[in-house]
Amino acid sequence: MTSESTPPVEAPGRRTVVAAVGAAGLAVALTACGSSDDTSSSGGSGTQAGANASGGGSGSGSGGGTALAKTSDIPEGGGKIFKDRNVVVTQPAAGTFKAFSTRCPHMGCAVSSIAKGVIVCPCHGSQFSVEDGSVKKGPATSGLTAEKVTVSGDSITLA
Ligand code: FES
Repeated sequence: MTSESTPPVEAPGRRTVVAAVGAAGLAVALTACGSSDDTSSSGGSGTQAGANASGGGSGSGSGGGTALAKTSDIPEGGGKIFKDRNVVVTQPAAGTFKAFSTRCPHMGCAVSSIAKGVIVCPCHGSQFSVEDGSVKKGPATSGLTAEKVTVSGDSITLA
């Protein structure tokens, strides 16, 4: 009786082991799915954190006084346009630096070049003085908005 009953017990035992492995495999698969869901949801919050971080970064970039250029980058009697900062820096006289918004007050184009003491808007040809941003030639009726820059040593910083 005992020797007869032993083999049937072993057989189900093996099946149980196989089934358990199968279940474990499923559990692993489910866990993997679960963890990938977790990853994507935490990725979402990670993106938000990244957006916040970059927002803070650009905020400090535009208002935090990061170096814009070297004084030697700005030609005397002319200037240089920093498109990514939306600012144009001029040096009307040796050692005197001015900065203006690149946004043309006429219809909002970005000024694109500086020649012969004027900053030129490519859209309708308005020209602005490198000295104070005032209108030299229309159709713009008001000058460029002044921006604040600080010169420290040979480095120009957008305030
Ligand atoms: Fe600059 Fe018209 S937008 S001249």
